[in-house]
Amino acid sequence: MLALLGLTTVGSIVYPLGRFLAPPGEKGKSKQISLKRSEIPAGEAKDIPFAGMPAMVINLPGRGFVAFSRVCSHLGCLVDYDKVRNRIFCPCHAAVFDLEGNVVTGPPPKPLQKLPLRVEGESIVIG
Ligand code: FES
Repeated sequence: MLALLGLTTVGSIVYPLGRFLAPPGEKGKSKQISLKRSEIPAGEAKDIPFAGMPAMVINLPGRGFVAFSRVCSHLGCLVDYDKVRNRIFCPCHAAVFDLEGNVVTGPPPKPLQKLPLRVEGESIVIG
């Protein structure tokens, strides 16, 4: 009886401590997302959650689909696609990215994170 009580006591301390010290899990963070091509007409973009971060898929007329993280590489604001100007803008410090994710102007030190994407029939698979 004492051994059982001791085990329960140790377990009630070790288990929560282990959970607290363990790195955060991937629960709720999808590693792969599938969309229908028809969801994103040519020249349009769709915002999606990807691996726990905001992302977007753009249908570039004549060039196909590309996917980027929406997290600006400067200080982490969310960028937006401007279909009229064919650029991606960050509202925080007026950064401009081209449709490859490269910095055109502004303070970001590196391009937007491009996400792996492939088209399989009528589906777009990101990740
Ligand atoms: S956070 Fe995007 S330009 Fe500063």
